[in-house]
Amino acid sequence: MFDTVIKGGRVSTASDTFGCDIGIRDGVIVALGAEIGEAREVIDATGRWVLPGGIDSHVHIAQPSGEGLVMADDFESATRSAVMGGNTTVLPFCLQESGVPLRESVRAYHAKADGRCYTDVSFHLIISDPTPQVLGQELPALVRDGYTSFKVFMTYEGLALSDRQILEVMAMARETRALVMVHAENYDIIRFLTDSLEAQGKTAPRHHADSRPMIAEREATHRAISLAELSEVPLMVVHVSNREAMEEIRRARQRGLKIIGETCPQYLVLTAQDLDGLNMEGAKYVCSPPPRDRDSQEACWQGLQQDVFSVFSSDHCPFRYDDPQGKLTPKGRTSFRWVPNGIPGIGARLPILFSEGVVKGRIDINRFVALTSTNHAKTYGLYPRKGAIAIGADADLAIWDPERRQTLTHAMLRDGSDYTPYEGLEIVGWPMTTLVRGRVVVREGVLEGARDGVHLPRGVSAHA
Ligand code: URP
Ligand code: ZN
Ligand code: ZN
Repeated sequence: MFDTVIKGGRVSTASDTFGCDIGIRDGVIVALGAEIGEAREVIDATGRWVLPGGIDSHVHIAQPSGEGLVMADDFESATRSAVMGGNTTVLPFCLQESGVPLRESVRAYHAKADGRCYTDVSFHLIISDPTPQVLGQELPALVRDGYTSFKVFMTYEGLALSDRQILEVMAMARETRALVMVHAENYDIIRFLTDSLEAQGKTAPRHHADSRPMIAEREATHRAISLAELSEVPLMVVHVSNREAMEEIRRARQRGLKIIGETCPQYLVLTAQDLDGLNMEGAKYVCSPPPRDRDSQEACWQGLQQDVFSVFSSDHCPFRYDDPQGKLTPKGRTSFRWVPNGIPGIGARLPILFSEGVVKGRIDINRFVALTSTNHAKTYGLYPRKGAIAIGADADLAIWDPERRQTLTHAMLRDGSDYTPYEGLEIVGWPMTTLVRGRVVVREGVLEGARDGVHLPRGVSAHA
């Protein structure tokens, strides 16, 4: 007797597609086959795709964001939106706050997340102050405890590390087999351009894009790759937005370096023109790197098709729009410099890639699974427990209606923000039912499960 059997679905993994029933017991997949037997609950998946639940390995939730600013989501609302959008695991960042021991920051994140999540969760760390104490003691201990990846920034006040500091982080990553993720934009170029745009009175949100041109991203991407090559470590270049940066990663990979790339929905369906709205409307699209142009969108698709990018994440970083603690912060009205960076996307990521990618014939269903689930699990040390439909894997599954047509609205997404940058997008295909470790959390589009998500200590990345 199984707890649950999912019957009659078309199952796709990152490599195969087959018709079979899935038997689940104690939250784990225990049988795959035809007519596998009785269950307490049978879910009919006839006419549906059954896919591994999405893993979103780049999200920011309840992250301290500067004076007077508050992120739109807590862990409940962010993971609610995630699970409504077919995700079963998310990887948010735990920010090292200045003067606070890293272990303390991790504890504070657990206090915000534990017992509040609809999906499983695992934290990356953001290293903002790589002191000898942090590099020599705190980080190695945290890596041993399963926090096996961390992000460094080459831009942003208070976060940007020097090349020397990045090298020190990489040396420590090499020792501990942790994976370094990098936000690659040239800080000095951005500061210089921001100052000169402001001096010309160009302070509207659309000038955010002018202040962070592709060359700033391309140069920093090249530099980060060089630092990783010198350090002999793998490197994940996150949220790549354009052809020039993509080509840097492609070249490095062709040279045999372990450089891994990520892109996000905003670089497939938005452009810098979206920042050009009336009054402050453009603030809704302010994120870094900024959305670019049609050629950049095409390049990002090529990167996804040709495995230059192996993961597709949301970079969910939600602020409310009509809110003085969000996009309409009073200082933001004086200059784009102060508009909080980041846009929501945790619930929209999978439907956008399914509709724009699979339905429009740009990628096949197996590539979709690889880009949205399996490669995240492999990259961040969760495979094969996560990201797989296989005996012994967690029963994290999304059952998709491949033909459902909808116009995307913010109300569908159930996050804590008050807008979606993807409002009005026509979407074909939707994750109707989502199971997290065998429990139905969303059934036919209705949230019915509890907040039973757990924190996952992770192993070593497949790339490390
Ligand atoms: O604008 C963005 N992407 N904000 C989130 C923080 C980051 O850089 O990933
Ligand atoms: Zn970033
Ligand atoms: Zn981010």
